[in-house]
Amino acid sequence: MPDYKIAPSILSANFARLGEEVDNVLAAGADWVHFDVMDNHYVPNLTIGPMVCKALRNHGVEAPIDVHLMVEPVDDMIRMFADAGATYITFHPEASRHVDRSLQLIQSLGCKAGLVFNPASSLDAAKYVLDKLDMILLMSVNPGFGGQKFIPATLGKLKEARKLIDDSGLDIRLEIDGGVTKDNIREIAQAGADSFVAGSAIFNAEDYADVIRAMRAELAQ
Ligand code: DX5
Ligand code: ZN
Repeated sequence: MPDYKIAPSILSANFARLGEEVDNVLAAGADWVHFDVMDNHYVPNLTIGPMVCKALRNHGVEAPIDVHLMVEPVDDMIRMFADAGATYITFHPEASRHVDRSLQLIQSLGCKAGLVFNPASSLDAAKYVLDKLDMILLMSVNPGFGGQKFIPATLGKLKEARKLIDDSGLDIRLEIDGGVTKDNIREIAQAGADSFVAGSAIFNAEDYADVIRAMRAELAQ
């Protein structure tokens, strides 16, 4: 069985008590914290920045923080998030004029680097930078909001990305983001994902541990 990672998106957490929410979801069995950064420019919404990432580290969060940049341009935010304690930093290739350079910047700052692909984008931008990728993140909704429905065409794209990674022989995680629930997680894993972002499915539930347990049970089948 692959080393599956479950990464709750704190976009759906209660921001009025974020530290407690992150503690609770990690205690409930989450592996990573998925941290959605929106700038009301690349996407039509505005969220949280490096100060909040730093505040979570100061609060005592030790788990990997998976920073998903939905901002344009990306390089300043890369520097600030590396400084704020990010583990992974991923960005959308169309938001950087020099994708290879931005990936190198992330890795040079000691973080793991990844590219994010919107539902309608092809995987071409990953092809020549595979050696600089620690993660490929496929969006299974249009970026900007939590609580949307999984776009089924992403399953075929996951298979394509899985093949690209396997053929390269490189150690690259394949993450999926958007509309993941306990009811579709198995099908998504079968298509090739090994890391799963879930926002509303976890944070809208009464008991976070119940949902995470149900997701892991599906993955173990
Ligand atoms: C959307 C974000 C997602 C979002 C996922 O732009 O990148 O991480 O929070 O939320 P759900 O799991 O509710 O679709
Ligand atoms: Zn995200």
